[in-house]
Amino acid sequence: MRVNEDAVLRGQRVLLVPYEPHHVPRYHEWMKSEELQKLTASEPLTLEQEYDMQRSWREDADKCTFIILDALRWDQGFPEEQCMVGDVNLFLIDSENPAIAEIEIMIAEPGFRGRGFGEESVRLMLFYGVTALEISTFQAKIGLANLTSLRLFHKLHFQDVSVSEVFEEVTLRWEVTEPEKQQLIKTCPVTLTTYKDVKRTMVDSEQDQRRANIVPDV
Ligand SMILES: CC(C)(COP(=O)(O)OP(=O)(O)OC[C@H]1O[C@@H](n2cnc3c(N)ncnc32)[C@H](O)[C@@H]1OP(=O)(O)O)[C@@H](O)C(=O)NCCC(=O)NCCS
Repeated sequence: MRVNEDAVLRGQRVLLVPYEPHHVPRYHEWMKSEELQKLTASEPLTLEQEYDMQRSWREDADKCTFIILDALRWDQGFPEEQCMVGDVNLFLIDSENPAIAEIEIMIAEPGFRGRGFGEESVRLMLFYGVTALEISTFQAKIGLANLTSLRLFHKLHFQDVSVSEVFEEVTLRWEVTEPEKQQLIKTCPVTLTTYKDVKRTMVDSEQDQRRANIVPDV
């Protein structure tokens, strides 16, 4: 969707930025992993199909996606592609009811798992869902064997609603009450900014860095 095309959510560990064409090559590399394909129930795509997918995430009104960046690497001035650690998505699953969304999360970089990146990214996306998209019910479909992801979503209010033996997955749901919504808004460590602004700050700091390097020592 276009709603989040210039939105950035900054937490303590991560920045969520809109999915752009320059993210696609790294994303495509990640999705060659059979482990990730299995854990996220995804089919391998060609690079061209991955670009089409990026366009569809941007243009289709029922899809919202963010790329997860490591805030520390970003602040240290690493190129954006080297800050990418995963993605988090919302998919509006019911055309009759735009307040229901399925959430998906992937921390693709193994070295970044188990360090709070997944939980913070999901919290930020839940925050964005309730505040910007007026979502009131979140759903997640998780493989029966994916205990890490199940624990994460159970921790964040989601409850099991059904199990599919055929697909070997559990459907979990969180119907957000008004007090829970207020609590989420109050406790989510988020700073909202724009992609244009964070990019500008990055360019300014690169220029400062270059200037500092050419000023001769006295
Ligand atoms: C599942 C995933 C998103 C979790 O993100 P993460 O950054 O690794 O997890 P976090 O460090 O934020 O931990 C959050 C919670 O998840 C659970 N968790 C994390 N690592 C775990 C592990 N190795 N074993 C069991 N539970 C674990 C815990 O409940 C943890 O909270 P706690 O530390 O307070 O107990 C991430 O591991 C991932 O993307 N894995 C590969 C793809 C995938 O499985 N996607 C989900 C598809 S439904």
